[in-house]
Amino acid sequence: PKPPNLYAFEGSAQLAASLRTYVLDAQNSSIERHNVFRVAVSGGSLPKVLGQALLKETGGEGKVQFDKWEIYYADERAVPLDHEDSNHRLVQEEILNKIPADMGKPQVFPIDVKYLDDIQELADQYEQTLVSRFAAKDSVRIPIFDLILLGCGPDGHTCSLFPGSPLLRESDAWILPISDSPKPPPKRITLSLPVASHGLKIGFVATGGGKKDVLKQIFDTEEGRQLPCGLINELAQERVSWFVDLAAAEGVSFP
Ligand code: 6PG
Repeated sequence: PKPPNLYAFEGSAQLAASLRTYVLDAQNSSIERHNVFRVAVSGGSLPKVLGQALLKETGGEGKVQFDKWEIYYADERAVPLDHEDSNHRLVQEEILNKIPADMGKPQVFPIDVKYLDDIQELADQYEQTLVSRFAAKDSVRIPIFDLILLGCGPDGHTCSLFPGSPLLRESDAWILPISDSPKPPPKRITLSLPVASHGLKIGFVATGGGKKDVLKQIFDTEEGRQLPCGLINELAQERVSWFVDLAAAEGVSFP
């Protein structure tokens, strides 16, 4: 297999433009294949960049067809949906609330806040949501998202899969609970590593000088390949594309 793709851009506008093309390509081939576009998104800085990529005036280079989108969360914090820590709230503020009427409305799958007090149940219920949308679990070993959009923490975490976590060895569950996240808030649910690495396409967005050391590790060292982001690179290879800026790419050897 070919190695992961790594694209570096001078500024956020160029990054957003390239991310737009990438997402639209994924959208168009998914709609052609099964008339739906199933996307999982994470929190952090990603929703804002994605909003910049999708919501700007188009100028004829393809159309965002939100009415064909199903949006899921690659990870989510166990907080009410209007809480300032909620990834859903972030996606609402940065994307959903700003979609012009003629782009259509996506179908969005937030966590079920009935289960906030029981993190295992919250994860199980979100897994059930995936089961119901991706067919019965026994017939589908793993849900295959058309696109998974992720961030990368300075420690190499992605989704809410943190370095050294026993969750990285989980091979059965699709969605996992975590109650001791080193990045606050502590209680979260996350895609498992097998689900995160089975996306048809997996896009990472990492910007700023705070990411350069971890990117160097992930692309250039054996230890870095064992970090959660590195593991996804190893497992998914050319299905992975990194969108980074020059500050984050400094010193990284391109694959
Ligand atoms: C979360 C995120 C998390 C994030 C990374 C990178 O909910 O905390 O999903 O995995 O993507 O921490 O965040 P930044 O892009 O903000 O650095």
